Amino acid sequence: MSSPSEAELIHMFKGIPFTIRSSPELLKSLDTFDAREDDVLLVSYPKSGTHWLAGVTAKLYNTQVTLTSPIEFGDISKLEELNKLSSKRIIPTHLDYNMLPLTFKKKKCKMIYISRNPKDTAVSMYHYYRDNPNLPTVDTWTAFFDLFLKGDVVCGSWFDHFLSWEEHANDKNILFLFYEDMKKDLPKIVKEISLFLGLNVSDNDIQDICKKSSFSEMKSDTEKENSDPSHTVCALTSNRRLIFRKGAVGDWKNHFTPKQNRRFEEIFNEKMKLSKMAKSLTYEF
Ligand code: A3P
Repeated sequence: MSSPSEAELIHMFKGIPFTIRSSPELLKSLDTFDAREDDVLLVSYPKSGTHWLAGVTAKLYNTQVTLTSPIEFGDISKLEELNKLSSKRIIPTHLDYNMLPLTFKKKKCKMIYISRNPKDTAVSMYHYYRDNPNLPTVDTWTAFFDLFLKGDVVCGSWFDHFLSWEEHANDKNILFLFYEDMKKDLPKIVKEISLFLGLNVSDNDIQDICKKSSFSEMKSDTEKENSDPSHTVCALTSNRRLIFRKGAVGDWKNHFTPKQNRRFEEIFNEKMKLSKMAKSLTYEF
């Protein structure tokens, strides 16, 4: 059987490519969503450490919380499904700031934005495209590299996504995190998340959460899972096992040619020239 074509897998909404796993009707109705003041949003561009952040955050609570699938994942019944949840909701999303349902903004819900250096993000996304039947086929890294720079990939341009959120970096209800900082000092970031969420978590519990959230633990937990592997915090995959690939900083060096690196830097410098946070990105240790 031939694999589905790009047109069968992807549709455009407000100029951004989405997979058909996010129905146009759902995307159109997002602004009717009724957020609750205690909702917590986990926001990311795909492949930035969404599952890692979700794993850590869910473990911080000792009360009942529900980690939902992404708000933009599913069909029109999705919003009703979220409405029915009685417990506190932790809701992941890959939406850019402009597409976020209005009530999250009005009610000043807490939001955590995780970003990752875009070179490693591109490489991670390339492998994801290759392994994931819900995404179009890409033949080579070279071809994917061009698509990524043009923003011709699911969720659109990394640059636009980052910039749309960076504009709100000083909002008190938004915490900005970097994947590389989690790699460098996970307990410090977990502490930061717990303080931001107003949770009182002991240092011992933080150490324990960090142990359970290491790459190897999370990967092996997923491999052992008997539960439905389609339960994931990413709208793009049907299989959680595709998520835990390498979990490293600097893998881009194994993929980028010197010429690609120069081109990337040129485009990055142009697009991010007004960005303050772009300077905080780490590409290697
Ligand atoms: P790689 O493909 O570079 O390995 P997302 O959850 O947003 O889809 O991001 C997936 C990326 O985060 C993958 O990157 C994955 O390996 C990495 N990741 C997931 N859990 C991790 C963990 N506990 N520690 C470090 N990296 C992790």
